[in-house]
Amino acid sequence: MNTFANNKPVIQLRDLVKTYQTGEVEVKAVRGVTLDIQRGDLVAIMGASGSGKSTLMNTLGCLDQPTGGNYLLDDIAVSRLNRKELAKLRNKKIGFVFQSFNLLARTSALENVELPMFYSHPLIPLRERRQRAVQTLEEVGLGDRLSHHPSQLSGGQQQCIAIARALVNRPELVLADEPTGNIDTRTSIEIMGLFQDLNDNGITIVMITHELDIAAYCKRIVVMRDGLVISDTRNENRRFARQEIATLYQAEQKAKLA
Ligand SMILES: Nc1ncnc2c1ncn2[C@@H]1O[C@H](COP(=O)(O)OP(=O)(O)OP(=O)(O)O)[C@@H](O)[C@H]1O
Ligand SMILES: [Mg+2]
Repeated sequence: MNTFANNKPVIQLRDLVKTYQTGEVEVKAVRGVTLDIQRGDLVAIMGASGSGKSTLMNTLGCLDQPTGGNYLLDDIAVSRLNRKELAKLRNKKIGFVFQSFNLLARTSALENVELPMFYSHPLIPLRERRQRAVQTLEEVGLGDRLSHHPSQLSGGQQQCIAIARALVNRPELVLADEPTGNIDTRTSIEIMGLFQDLNDNGITIVMITHELDIAAYCKRIVVMRDGLVISDTRNENRRFARQEIATLYQAEQKAKLA
């Protein structure tokens, strides 16, 4: 299952630059970022609005090419790839989760999760696609919501479907842009529990968040300002979501009995 061939960092950025040119206006969104991310890390990217977090993440995710510097993903020089090769690499190695879930509205949970497998090479047979989608939905705790459409589910459940969709191709790297941005605190802790479980199983996760409380569940916190990394620290006092959920649950049960 391990598609990453060696123990070099999954992500190696060297002096990465991304400049947007819109008419006469030039915006230097990322101005020279050098960063390594090791396999098995769980990284929070923080920073004020407009500091370049999403731009950096879109580059990490091969959705966008940098305008300067180098990016090696699993030792592959991303800037040398054409669009088709980029799409293939992305589909094979990366799962994406977005703040607004980005699910297809009039489509069941199951079909939403099956979707990325249509783009796999070689094509996965229908039966296996279905089996894998069901299994992945069960893994995120939604095995009993297969036929529900997004509008029939809570925000937290919709995000779990989006996470299942990100995982169904068995990526080594999950990139999440404010995955808990539209979700209440309790459900956010559950989402972080899911991310911590995935990370314990070896998946590398990079997530953007505005909330310190959420970054606290990550192993490493990178802060950006004006297109640069201004701080990069290991989180020595990591929070553990599963423990907190169990404690919350016990307290609720106690309150019910009282
Ligand atoms: N497609 C684009 N075309 C032109 N400029 C862009 C584009 N995307 C982002 N920018 C600009 O690049 C800068 C960084 O934007 P980015 O979306 O990366 O910030 P962010 O840190 O993710 O902010 P937020 O926390 O609000 O999501 C901003 O000044 C933004 O206006
Ligand atoms: Mg953003």
